[in-house]
Amino acid sequence: MFERYQAWQIELEREPVQYMERLPELLAAARAELAAFVGAEPDDVTFVPNATTGVNMAARALDLREGDEVLASDLEYGGCDLTWEHLCAQAGARYVRVPVERLFEHRTDRTRAVFVSHITSETALLLPVEEIVARARAEGLTTIVDGAHAVAQLDLDLEKLGADFYAGNCHKWLCAPKGAGFLHVRPEWQDQVNGPIVSWGYTNPATFISRTERQGTRDAAAYLAIPEAIAFQRAHDVRERCVELARRARRELCALLGTEPLAPEEAIRQMATVQLPVADTDLSHRLFDEHRIEIPTMGPRRDDLLRISIAAYTEWEDVERLLVALPSALAR
Ligand SMILES: Cc1ncc(COP(=O)(O)O)c(C=O)c1O
Repeated sequence: MFERYQAWQIELEREPVQYMERLPELLAAARAELAAFVGAEPDDVTFVPNATTGVNMAARALDLREGDEVLASDLEYGGCDLTWEHLCAQAGARYVRVPVERLFEHRTDRTRAVFVSHITSETALLLPVEEIVARARAEGLTTIVDGAHAVAQLDLDLEKLGADFYAGNCHKWLCAPKGAGFLHVRPEWQDQVNGPIVSWGYTNPATFISRTERQGTRDAAAYLAIPEAIAFQRAHDVRERCVELARRARRELCALLGTEPLAPEEAIRQMATVQLPVADTDLSHRLFDEHRIEIPTMGPRRDDLLRISIAAYTEWEDVERLLVALPSALAR
């Protein structure tokens, strides 16, 4: 897949003029395959470099006003919290972060939108987004879902989910090259969505896709490699094995650390976060330097969580290495 990605880059450098002419058509073909993979209409999906860009575009499209409130879980990705805090501060609006179980208790008559992750970043939990989106929409609220970790960990059906905005990354669990994200937008919102910059895509007749995808001269190879990544995923689908392994790893890690699981097992997919007995800002460095195990403690807000990720190439022996290394790495 990486070879395909680089082949697209070489093609651009060899024949830039031809390539740029063909680009809209090439992107449309890649977009159609991505749309089929995530259960969406091709015209409702636009390529963006990453989920953060998608969340930013969605947040700006809301055109928040003074007094408005945006309700979010307190498990959201820090970079996206900053997006909302910044835009809310600019508008005189409020970003309200609350425990996900009590999300709707904090709804007021000023609440405009609900923002939640499909799978959370630090705590690696699958949230009940179907229920949250359905309830929010029934209450007339706009829904923005951060699906950065969901693509390829879950079978997505974005049409059925019905969120107003869904931002995703193909460069995480789908293993596409970095820079391969997307934003899915329901048709009724598309006119309000702008690209991060204004460029040729705004020439009449401008469309949602042209405005958001024509962003000056860029390397589109990561987007064009997505179909190859999808084909690879379809041919080598070992997700259920990974989920079992992640759940087993979580059980054994909790037993080893003497800490309680953060949530029921059903909320675990291919990532699992466990509570450390004490916060430890240096643990992940020690695990890497001394044991060649790459695993993050989650920060900057919390260094008392350790998150494991189980990919197609991860074996139980890898988890065992962690289980053996942890007691001495923690003891310092
Ligand atoms: C839940 C969540 N949202 C958003 C992001 C940001 O992804 P990106 O940097 O690709 O925009 C991450 C990154 O880990 C994440 O975990």
